[in-house]
Order: sequence, then C-alpha cells, then structure tokens
Amino acid sequence: MCGIVGYVGKARCVEVLMEGLRNLEYRGYDSAGLALQLGGRIETIKRPGRLDNLAEALEERNGHLSAAHTGVGHTRWATHGRPSEANAHPQLGNGGSVAVVHNGIIENFAELKEELKERGVTFSSETDTEVIAHLLAQRVEAGEPLREALASALRRLRGSFAVAAVSAKEPGKVVAARKQSPLVVGQGAGENYLASAVQALLKQTRRFLVVENGEIVELTGSSVGIFTLDGESVERESFEVEWEAEAIELGGYEDYMLKEIHDQPSALRNTLSGRVDSGGAVDLPEVDLAGVERIAVVGCGTAYHAGLLGKEAIERLARIPVEVAVSSEYRYAHLVGDEKTLVVAISQSGETTDTLAAIEAARAFGGRILAVTNTQGSLITREADAVLLTKAGPEIGVAATKTFLAQIAALYLLALGLARAKGATPEEELRELGRDLRRAPEKVEETLGLLEGRVEEAASLFEEARCALFLGRGSSYPVALEGALKLKEISYLPAEGYPAGEMKHGPIALVDEHSPVVAVLGQGLTREKSLSNVEETVARGASVISVARENDSAARRMSRVVLPVPEAPGILDPFVSSVPLQLLAYRVAKGRALDVDKPRNLAKSVTVE
Ligand code: G6P
Repeated sequence: MCGIVGYVGKARCVEVLMEGLRNLEYRGYDSAGLALQLGGRIETIKRPGRLDNLAEALEERNGHLSAAHTGVGHTRWATHGRPSEANAHPQLGNGGSVAVVHNGIIENFAELKEELKERGVTFSSETDTEVIAHLLAQRVEAGEPLREALASALRRLRGSFAVAAVSAKEPGKVVAARKQSPLVVGQGAGENYLASAVQALLKQTRRFLVVENGEIVELTGSSVGIFTLDGESVERESFEVEWEAEAIELGGYEDYMLKEIHDQPSALRNTLSGRVDSGGAVDLPEVDLAGVERIAVVGCGTAYHAGLLGKEAIERLARIPVEVAVSSEYRYAHLVGDEKTLVVAISQSGETTDTLAAIEAARAFGGRILAVTNTQGSLITREADAVLLTKAGPEIGVAATKTFLAQIAALYLLALGLARAKGATPEEELRELGRDLRRAPEKVEETLGLLEGRVEEAASLFEEARCALFLGRGSSYPVALEGALKLKEISYLPAEGYPAGEMKHGPIALVDEHSPVVAVLGQGLTREKSLSNVEETVARGASVISVARENDSAARRMSRVVLPVPEAPGILDPFVSSVPLQLLAYRVAKGRALDVDKPRNLAKSVTVE
C-alpha cells in the first residue's frame, strides 16, 4: 500500500516520477505528491484524490518544475490521517529542508511525536510519516550527511517502512531504506531510479537491484550505493526483469481489468510452458517434492481461493493432507507442523505483509516454504526456500483476474508433481491430467468467445439487486467464492459465496426477487447436487444465473440466463467457470459507472497488517 518513487539524473525528473506513480497507482490513490530539488530548495506539489489531480496541478505550474533533476514521489493509501493535501506525502521536516515519502506504518509514531513536540517541533499533518521527516531534518541540521542522518532516524523507528528522502543541502542525491515494505533500485545510464515495485520503472529500465531489510540506498545520477545501517558498503548483483514495458499498456482495452481477463490464455500458456510436456509429464525442477507429508497453504483474498482449489487437487491426486488458511489467521494460530510440512505461500505481488508473516510463523516449526508468486525479485522470493513463478505478466487492475487462473495452473502442476513423487495416482492417469491441463489456454479462449455478448443480459438482472448469492460445490465452491469477491470488490454489492449444499442453513433467508443467485454448476455429481440446491432458491423467487455447458437443458430450464462454458475435461472446470464470473462482475460495475481498475478503499498490494 502506498507507492514510492525516486529519481536522480536528467531534466526529466517530473516525467519519470509521474510515469512511475501512474504505474503504482494500484497501490493506493487517496492522494499523490512530488518533492523536487530546484535551485537549492525543495519544492513540493501535492493533491488529494487521484493522480490526475496532481497532473493537472503540475500543468498549472507551466513547466516551472520541469528543470528538476532530482526528486521523490508518492501515491497514498491512507493509514494515519484522512486523505487530504496536508496528509499527502511528501512530508517535510523543519520547514522544508528535507522531504520524505513513506510506505508502511511507524508503530511508535505517537510517542515520537510527543517527544518532538516537547522539543518545540510543530506538526502540520496527522501522518506517522511526518515524525520521520522531523527526525531526519534535525540530524541534517546538526550537520550529519543525509545518509547517516537517515540511518540515525531509522534507529528510532518501530514498524514497517520503505522511505525515500531528499535534502536541500545535498543536491543530486536521493536516499532510501526499507524494513519489511518493498523497495527496488532501477539502473539507467546517467540516471538512477527507486520504486516500490519494478512495474513503476519498466519504461525506463529492466535492470534492477533489490534492497534488503535494514539497508540504506544512496542514489546519484552516476552511482548506486547500498549500505548497512552502520555505513558498511554492500555488494549486490543486479537482475533483469522478464516483463516488457508494453505489458503495462492498455493495448486498446477500456480498462486493465478487461485487458487482463482477455490476457488469460497467454498467462496460462506462459505459466504451463516448459513445465508439462506434450505427453503430460510434469517437471518442476524449482521445487523439491520428496518427503512431503503434510501441506499448509496460505494466502489472502484471491490467493486464498486459489489455495482452496490447490487443496482439492493435492488431496485427490497426491493423498497428502492439506490445510488452507488466510495468512492473517495462520500467523497467529496454534500451528501444527514439522520439517516434513511444505508451506505453500501464494501471493501475486509477493509483498503481502500477512503472508510474509505467515511464512515467518511456519519457519518456527521448521516448515519448508514454497512461494507461488507472479513477481520476480519480490520480498516473498527472498523469504522462501523455493519459488514457483506464475508467469501472468504484470497485473494492474486491483481485482485479480489473470493471476488467479495462473495460480490455479501452478497449484495443479504442483499437485501432479506431488502425486508422482508420492506414487499416489497411476502414472498414466497423471499424464492424462497433464495433457488436459495443457489445454487450459485453449479452453479459456473458447470460453471468452462463447461469452461474447452474453454477459450483459446476466448483468441486467443486477440492476435492482440488493445482494447476490454465489453457489457451488466441490471445485466450483472456491470459484463461487472468488466470483462473489470480484462482485463485491468492484461493484460494491454485498455478495456471498457459499457451498450450494450449505445454503439452506442460513443464506437462503436472503433469497428474494432482489437477490440474484449465481450457480456454478460444474460437471458430474457436483452438477446434479447443485441443480437441486439451486431449485430450492428458484422456488423462493430467486433469479438464477447459471454457469453451465451450453447444452445443459436442466440449467436452462432453471435459469433466467445461462453463461455458457465449453465442454472441457474436469480439471479445467475452475478455469472456464471463473471467466464468466469475472466478466459478470466487470459488467455489473461498468453498469454502475464505477472505476473497475481502482475500486474504492482497496489497494492491490497490502503491505500493512
Ligand atoms: C489485495 C488485493 C487482492 C489480492 C490480495 C492478496 O486484497 O486487492 O486482489 O488477492 O490483496 O494479494 P497478493 O499479492 O498477496 O496475492
């Protein structure tokens, strides 16, 4: 949450910082601001609300700020203090001698604020960040060089942070540091960059350095120095990011979410490629699958739903017991496990604080950690013993779509690999499933084609809706949960995902003509059982939307609208059934004229507890 950027180099500072913030806006969009070094002073410009407000304010300054070579920028997801200009970052210390941008939470800010006030400091915001700015300014005023001053200030802080700062006294320099919150350095020619995530800088560079916990970075146009808090220099290898800059373009789509839904076939192709051959044999050299006796899967939001699907596949094929937990619960639970426990931590961003903490908790009992993430070089890749990368490309829309399908693909590969290592399912059966899995991209493509023009009708049933119920059984149940989450996230309609068979123990009380029921039918026994459960809602006046095969006459009879999915092997059901629900949520939100890419109150990457 919150995005930070920094730049030193040429007279295109404003342009690079704004481009970076544009690509980080998914992290928070309550306010935005820049601090720029100009003529021996620091100029700040901040606006509450979306980045567009800041862009307009910059235009009004008629290029006055465009001579800057050095600066920092911020896009905010408010934690301490409501969204306002005063609470926007950068925060200034000592009347503007230093400027600080910050992502994270300073837990002891209240006591530090009291102490600073007693020493005569006046505060102009309600943020926790402002204490960092004043602590830093005091050290700088006392004559410490900026980097050392930052180290001194950081020693006083408890909590999680990534901070970047500039000082009027040291032109052409940006310093930064991190503890828990993410920070990367981008390398250019005669210019260098900082950002919360690599996608901020893809237009500038693909060469990056990671910054580890407790390290300080000093950037000039011609140098990047990484240091410990005690000032010792640290060597760090750079790495090249595989993502292309075009991957963060809209490419003709109206929104990122719609683009990313249509990106799904290629996200799946890339995630499966090289990992399951044409004969269906799975090869995951990155993961040691031997000797696993128990599995815990942790994740938040959409990642948790992917985890539920992983459990079903692993237990069915590998016969290994799997528990699935939301990370924020797992981290404080009374954990049972040992060194034969594999902990699979799923996180698209690789940054989610609760998931990182869940990993730390699992370390305590000796668990082996496998990260399933979409982000190379992210924090989780450095905390885990092994990494299974989903290769969905950067996802910008706050509501996860293509990364969900890529996570399911990665977990199914894992299930097949574990089943083989364990000898729990006959080899030929596993290979057949492997061959089926290879067809996921093609079947998702077919689904997108079938749905063309069909979703609007279903979305129209939500015009008068008060709430919605998403029902499914077996592997359709996590799909229903995810469908309900998508609708909630972007259309703000209360929606509940429930096991179809359990619905009569409570949620059926919600059913009336203003509560559409979305039934994810699946195949075989699951379908038959779900059909009878859904009939019970029809009898109570529900408008039913089914996700079903096009020729499913029972589904047609029962439903106001059928969202069709193609014939596909059972293992592909969650892939094809998820797509109509993503598009349904999208259409309902668009019908309400909402911003689907940046829904209110949410952030794509949640770096606070
Ligand atoms: C936020 C996002 C969700 C995401 C969840 C977990 O809540 O809005 O889309 O599923 O975080 O994020 P992660 O990056 O750990 O997968």
